[in-house]
Amino acid sequence: MLKHLASLATVLVLLPAAMAQSSVWGQCGGLGIGADTTCTPDSVCVVQNPYYSQCLPNGSATTTAVTTTTGTVALPTGTSTAKSNTVAKTLGGKKYFGSATDNPELNDTAYVATLSDNTLFGQITPGNSMKWDATEPSRGVFTFAAGDAVAALAKKNGQLLRGHNCVWYNQLASWVTAGNFNASTLTSILQTHCGTVVSHYAGQMKDSWDVVNEPFNDDGTVRSFVFSDALGLTSYVTTALVAARAADPAAKLYINDYNIDSAGAKATAMINLVTSLKAAGTPIDGVGIQGHLIVGEVPSKAALIANYEAFTALGIEIAITELDIRMTLPETPALLAQQQTDYNTVISACKAVAGCVGVTIWDYTDKYSWIPGVFTGQGAALPWDDNLIRKPAYDGIIAGFTN
Ligand SMILES: *[C@@H]1O[C@H](CO)[C@@H](O)[C@H](O)[C@H]1NC(C)=O
Ligand SMILES: *[C@@H]1O[C@H](CO)[C@@H](O)[C@H](O)[C@H]1NC(C)=O
Ligand SMILES: *[C@@H]1O[C@H](CO)[C@@H](O)[C@H](O)[C@H]1NC(C)=O
Repeated sequence: MLKHLASLATVLVLLPAAMAQSSVWGQCGGLGIGADTTCTPDSVCVVQNPYYSQCLPNGSATTTAVTTTTGTVALPTGTSTAKSNTVAKTLGGKKYFGSATDNPELNDTAYVATLSDNTLFGQITPGNSMKWDATEPSRGVFTFAAGDAVAALAKKNGQLLRGHNCVWYNQLASWVTAGNFNASTLTSILQTHCGTVVSHYAGQMKDSWDVVNEPFNDDGTVRSFVFSDALGLTSYVTTALVAARAADPAAKLYINDYNIDSAGAKATAMINLVTSLKAAGTPIDGVGIQGHLIVGEVPSKAALIANYEAFTALGIEIAITELDIRMTLPETPALLAQQQTDYNTVISACKAVAGCVGVTIWDYTDKYSWIPGVFTGQGAALPWDDNLIRKPAYDGIIAGFTN
């Protein structure tokens, strides 16, 4: 949203540089005559409606705006001044509230400033830079620079770091699939990959590793790819977990998947897998419930809690690892209100289950969300908008950890 502000800013750069700044409560845009268009440093310019933008004290904005084909709609913003990570730990009883991030946006100074506020985010997950295609693009050639940049940022900020991931059917380096390797060679390739990558970050992974990502189809059957096809589910998952444990005995080891939020075939498949791994003595510490959800379609709090407890009853912890709650665009006040409720529902369900250790959102701002690029016509899934202004969803997160 507010894409038009970016283009407005572009236009302003071309204007003579003599413009003054409006101070707090002054007009800074819209159809007013002769209004100054920037605010003094103690305030931010917020669009109230198509005719009027106002300099508001930083953090006090209550509306923002989105331009659609039918005009500009005023949208509510978040109003809570509480800090999400602080509240997650103090009132929520969790280890952290965190965010994914990715290397391209680390050049965005305003983005990094908010991400680096460890009262907001106590944990970081690299969105892409520790995946197989990034870390072992050719057999035996390991590249860690991008992952190291995220690890260094977390360390500098005093934030926990989550590894993501060792083995996944997607973003797998093409040499693995193209090599026509036999089963014993594939086992060795997997051991070397997980062992080397987890070992590289040993001691830095103060949170956990998503060792195995997305092993199941939505109907609970095993997802077909080179490792499951050649080795079978139990064998490849065990190989990855054993290699990861040997490489960093202190890291908690997770299997991570989506659409396992509430009971169903896929959640049952995960429960069965963890049960068999535990019975075999395989190292497994947690299940990551990704939480890629849809506004208005989030399971009830009771259904979430029942399923979360079905996992923790196996003797493991759980975490919400990739939470975002998308909507069909354009945003409306009603959709944002529903999204606030939906974030509250998921967070409060995690709060209610002692073995749910933390919540990570899949980046914090709509500016860098993966959703619009993958789900056509959908987006606005995160609690900060394109301009890094908090949305009502943020208040839902605070309420979820508080109530
Ligand atoms: C507004 O607040 C944010 C975070 O509290 C801060 O990083 C930013 O510099 C502030 N902006 C202004 C214009 O004061
Ligand atoms: C960030 O900026 C630096 C310096 O301009 C550049 O070298 C680097 O490639 C950029 N990184 C990304 C991920 O865009
Ligand atoms: C698998 O492939 C490797 C490398 O080509 C080979 O040395 C090994 O004998 C093969 N193993 C089996 C069981 O065919």
